[in-house]
Amino acid sequence: MDQKKIDQLVAAAASVRKMAHAPYSGYLVGAAVLTTDGRVFTGCNVENASYGLSVCAERHAIAAAVAAGYRDFAGVAVVTQSDPPAAPCGACRQVLAEFGDFPVILAGLDGAQRSTTVKTLLPIAFDPTTLAAALEKEPGSTP
Ligand code: THU
Repeated sequence: MDQKKIDQLVAAAASVRKMAHAPYSGYLVGAAVLTTDGRVFTGCNVENASYGLSVCAERHAIAAAVAAGYRDFAGVAVVTQSDPPAAPCGACRQVLAEFGDFPVILAGLDGAQRSTTVKTLLPIAFDPTTLAAALEKEPGSTP
């Protein structure tokens, strides 16, 4: 991703962040994923009175892309109010890793940006290749 594309993705994440439903934590998160063919899908965190049902912004954005038929990603931007900009939680790292390794841009509200990757955030991941390799070696029993 060039800096112009990164800035566009961060802008999309910052925009959707304003839609976050976060009355319990007060912590708003926006995420935007870029597909390899240039589409952008966004998501914000959506909290619930039953706290455990809350959905993170990153998983919301990934689900929106997948529901529209896109699974190949060139990058994701996450915007938070944290300084330095916060990184995705463990659950979101796992969901990102399902779709491979790509840049993760962490951005704040004041223009601060940090760049990392899915692989850096979740090394030695349990991912689709883990299952494929294991099942090839020892196929599961069929009912
Ligand atoms: N949150 C996200 O949306 N993404 C993350 O990666 C970390 C946390 C949300 C969940 C909750 O609504 C709020 O931030 C505080 O944890």
